[in-house]
Amino acid sequence: MKLITLLVLCLPLLGLASDQHASVDPEVQAAKDVLQLQKQYQDNLRASIRRRRTVCNPKNLLHRREWGSLSEPEREDYVNAVHCLANKTGQTSQTDIPGARTRYDDFVGCHLQQSPFVHADGLFLSYHRHFVRLYENALRTECGYQGAQSYWDWGLTYEDPRNATVFDGSPWSLGSNGLYVPDRDPVTINVFGQNLTFQPATGGGCVASGPFTPDKYVIHLGPIAGSPQGPQGGLGYNPRCLTRDLDPAFSRDTHPTNVSWELACADVACFNQLLDAPGGIHTSGHFQVGTITLDVLVSPSDPIFWLHHAQIDRLYPIWQGQDLRTRLNQVYGTVTTANIPPSENATLDTTISFGVLDSPKAIRDVLSTVDGDNCYIYE
Ligand SMILES: *[C@@H]1O[C@H](CO)[C@@H](O)[C@H](O)[C@H]1NC(C)=O
Ligand SMILES: *[C@@H]1O[C@H](CO)[C@@H](O)[C@H](O)[C@H]1NC(C)=O
Ligand SMILES: *[C@@H]1O[C@H](CO)[C@@H](O)[C@H](O)[C@H]1NC(C)=O
Ligand SMILES: *[C@@H]1O[C@H](CO)[C@@H](O)[C@H](O)[C@H]1NC(C)=O
Ligand SMILES: *[C@@H]1O[C@H](CO)[C@@H](O)[C@H](O)[C@H]1NC(C)=O
Repeated sequence: MKLITLLVLCLPLLGLASDQHASVDPEVQAAKDVLQLQKQYQDNLRASIRRRRTVCNPKNLLHRREWGSLSEPEREDYVNAVHCLANKTGQTSQTDIPGARTRYDDFVGCHLQQSPFVHADGLFLSYHRHFVRLYENALRTECGYQGAQSYWDWGLTYEDPRNATVFDGSPWSLGSNGLYVPDRDPVTINVFGQNLTFQPATGGGCVASGPFTPDKYVIHLGPIAGSPQGPQGGLGYNPRCLTRDLDPAFSRDTHPTNVSWELACADVACFNQLLDAPGGIHTSGHFQVGTITLDVLVSPSDPIFWLHHAQIDRLYPIWQGQDLRTRLNQVYGTVTTANIPPSENATLDTTISFGVLDSPKAIRDVLSTVDGDNCYIYE
């Protein structure tokens, strides 16, 4: 039979196949693909440590889970530990950051001081991985929390972040959206050297319900990136409520399809650039919460910061876990935020500072989630 006849005979079949394909929602398919990759990562990771008896082994891994899959008492334990950190005296020197008061502020202060070095560059993934790990460790060792750091999978509610369990405003949440404030002006924020303008969205005021309302939680530092700045350039003591302005517009870049594209990257250069580009999933997670989380340097003031960054950190080992041999040794990017001013490339030996939180760490010491100070798996 001639090739052309074969093609003609097959055309109706091809048509049928592509129709069927089109009827599958690409987001549903992408969400399935991501879970499949997560399963692969878990299997590979467990296999890589299966013979270990000491240090980090399959029996003592911490299991980091999505907020919505924690029980209510587990969520409440987490919230109580955050309050505990926010109520403990900190160690940051008042000369360095005059507005820092609490142990929680130590974490905000570390991010503030390291910000010029750890965004949109070769330190981003490693710094934030260890930063979240230190926070998890503080919740556990200083505040009696028994669980693991949880993550916020914004891909589950890409149609509207207001639907996320973590923002449901219950006593078992990280608080609701901010109160809606009408007639606000757009705000312009300097993000990594670019001025970005944000339109008012669905909230804008103080968190309206749950455990982070003004009577229960106060932030101390900033504003820094927006104007007017807080006292002493935003480093001074500026107690005020936690605000939010949940914005479905920015969910357009945190769809399951965005995540599956990210995970399809062949090397860390692609993975890092796609993640942290303007409109990438990292910035879009911040942008859909708005207000405090836009103020880059002090963005950890909103406790959602840790769950967003755990989600970023979750995608990293899922990606690494597809090829542990090569991806546990790759670094891409320089050592200054957005390469401003231009700087050398980061290497495995480059060290990152953690201020009062920890001694400096080399990138090679944090690239694995099951070595050194790390021993966790994402579920
Ligand atoms: C701090 O502790 C006080 C007294 O124990 C308590 O009433 C308050 O709710 C706590 N604040 C936070 C933010 O946890
Ligand atoms: C999100 O919540 C709104 C109501 O607040 C609801 O109408 C909508 O169906 C929800 N979307 C999803 C995907 O659950
Ligand atoms: C951003 O805005 C500030 C303040 O208006 C201005 O000084 C600066 O030049 C702007 N930067 C860019 C890159 O446009
Ligand atoms: C994310 O995915 C959505 C839906 O497929 C798409 O419209 C959007 O352009 C993507 N964003 C980026 C930054 O690629
Ligand atoms: C830094 O890395 C980039 C991308 O891999 C490469 O093109 C460049 O030559 C490197 N720079 C130096 C100074 O090694």
